[in-house]
Amino acid sequence: MKRSLALFLALTMTAGFAMAGQITVGFAQLGAESMWRTANTDSIKGEAEKRGINLIFSDAQQKQENQIRAVRSFIAQGVDVIGLPPVVNSGWEPVLREAKEAGIPVILADRTVDTTDDSLYVSFIGSNFLDEGKNAGNWLVRELKAKYGDVSGEVFELVGTVGAAPAIDRKKGFEEIIAAHPALKIVKSQSGDFTRAKGKEVMEAFIKSPEWTNAKRKIIFGHNDDMVLGAIQALEEAGVNPGRECIIIGVDGIADAFEAIAQGKMHCTVECNPLIGPQFYDMVESIVAGKSIPKIVYSIEGTYDYYCAQALLPWRRTLY
Ligand code: AHR
Repeated sequence: MKRSLALFLALTMTAGFAMAGQITVGFAQLGAESMWRTANTDSIKGEAEKRGINLIFSDAQQKQENQIRAVRSFIAQGVDVIGLPPVVNSGWEPVLREAKEAGIPVILADRTVDTTDDSLYVSFIGSNFLDEGKNAGNWLVRELKAKYGDVSGEVFELVGTVGAAPAIDRKKGFEEIIAAHPALKIVKSQSGDFTRAKGKEVMEAFIKSPEWTNAKRKIIFGHNDDMVLGAIQALEEAGVNPGRECIIIGVDGIADAFEAIAQGKMHCTVECNPLIGPQFYDMVESIVAGKSIPKIVYSIEGTYDYYCAQALLPWRRTLY
């Protein structure tokens, strides 16, 4: 084993030793970029512990090459099943083929890959990102009609990680809905990489742009709540009242977003459920038992706004 690979494994992997008959799962987490991701990691780790599954967990720090290396090491260790939330959606075919040839099933957990050969993974468990983008667009259109009687405004879009399935599909879904309303336009669109710090940086740049100065009705659509919360901080530091001077929509439904909505700083969050540990291990156990499994399992998700955020905040704090 090369020194750099050995060091990588030592730094990023938490491995247990499987007992006889125990299921071993390798999970190549993509990083720790958001509160959503932290909740997702807790769900994957916590549920493995509950079920007595031997979990080998790695954190790729948002780098595809680290994720690919982790998958290769899981193959070399002969795990029973691999869980993979791909950081971006392209470039996976070679390593997925290696797993298939080694007879190790791969479950795509949370994010999808772009491939014409869907035999390279056994199932996808997670959210319908296209629907999430549509949910955000539909909420906005309804809100504009109800509040102003016309569907118009300038959208400042905080995009997720470039090339990631949720960034691509949330954008696509949102654009599909607003396309029916020509006076509602995206005027600025930039990646904040799904992090709070970059969301703040991008918003700081948006505020200085002529599009911001000229906008009549300012709308902020962030592909996740963390970027939106960073943007709200930037707005407040620039002396802008986020709740009164803008309409702000995020995705994920983290408790901090519910709190921002309850405080009147944000208007809506579209749910994306990170707590997929139980479904993931149900599927792992079915695979090991030789049972058939569905190719796609979508989470059921809602949209929350100022009508309910205050009342639901205590419940949300118990989730993520
Ligand atoms: O893939 C799910 C997305 O990844 C969540 O919306 C985001 O918060 C995370 O970083």
